[in-house]
Amino acid sequence: MIVAVLGTGIMGAPMARNLASAGHEVRAWNRTSAKAQGLGATVFDSPAGAVKGAEVVITMLADGPTVAAVMQEAFVSDDALWWQASTVGVDWADALGDAYVDGPVMGTRKPAEDGKLTVLASGPGREQLGDVFDAVAAKVIDLGDEVGAGQRMKLVGNSWVLGLVEALAETIALAEHLGVDPRDFLKMIEGGLMDTPYARLKGEPMIAREFPPSFPLALAAKDAGLIVEAAPDLPLPKLVRDQMLRAVEAGHGESDVAATFMASWREHS
Ligand SMILES: NC(=O)c1ccc[n+]([C@@H]2O[C@H](COP(=O)([O-])OP(=O)(O)OC[C@H]3O[C@@H](n4cnc5c(N)ncnc54)[C@H](OP(=O)(O)O)[C@@H]3O)[C@@H](O)[C@H]2O)c1
Repeated sequence: MIVAVLGTGIMGAPMARNLASAGHEVRAWNRTSAKAQGLGATVFDSPAGAVKGAEVVITMLADGPTVAAVMQEAFVSDDALWWQASTVGVDWADALGDAYVDGPVMGTRKPAEDGKLTVLASGPGREQLGDVFDAVAAKVIDLGDEVGAGQRMKLVGNSWVLGLVEALAETIALAEHLGVDPRDFLKMIEGGLMDTPYARLKGEPMIAREFPPSFPLALAAKDAGLIVEAAPDLPLPKLVRDQMLRAVEAGHGESDVAATFMASWREHS
């Protein structure tokens, strides 16, 4: 298929590469053009150029306002299918209309590179995207015809994962505060019911204070904010969002989400 990818950041770039490797004709646009090079895609200098003639248009951009602005510039034909893969939350899913595939993804840089994302697909036309999903995903969860169902499921998934990262950050900060080796904590839970691969995946960077981005902290804070907007009475998402914003304000926005640890560590060291 002829597929336009708008947004070739951490997630969009490997998705474009995997689509090209699977034999699709990929047309890419990114605000910072250099990031669209070398993916096996033809690079365009405008969203309108990239989508012209495309059968499928994928948006993998930072947030709802960015998706709306880029799509306004793109002039996508009614014949093309739009897969909106960015995490935009419930209100933006509505604001973007009702005639598109609402398909945010679970999985971070590595699963994106490996073509093993999970797509949370809802909305009209998703059944026509099988070959496109196959190129980038290991799993597609079909959430029905209603646009917005994908974003709702994504917020649920992110509530779990962002809460987990924040709990880990505080646990490691507490361990260091008490003079307990945080690696002993990881050994203590290893292989038991309390263990999760995520503890080591995000815990080691916290202990080493090295945060190469898989999921940028600024976007994680945005996602925690989307959960707060969707469920303002739940206390935990507010705490997670505010702690992440503290770490963003301290200059860690472009680091991995694990850098939320820097806010807890500063407060308890
Ligand atoms: N990373 C993950 O683990 C992960 C997992 C699941 C879902 N997501 C979601 O996937 C989406 C993309 O995330 P990512 O990790 O790929 O982030 P990223 O590397 O920061 O990419 C963000 C993309 O949005 C573009 N962008 C940002 N502001 C823009 C603006 N004002 N105008 C035009 N383009 C703009 C960026 O362009 P530039 O390159 O020019 O900055 C880039 O293409 C987000 O919605 C995120 O929440 C991420």
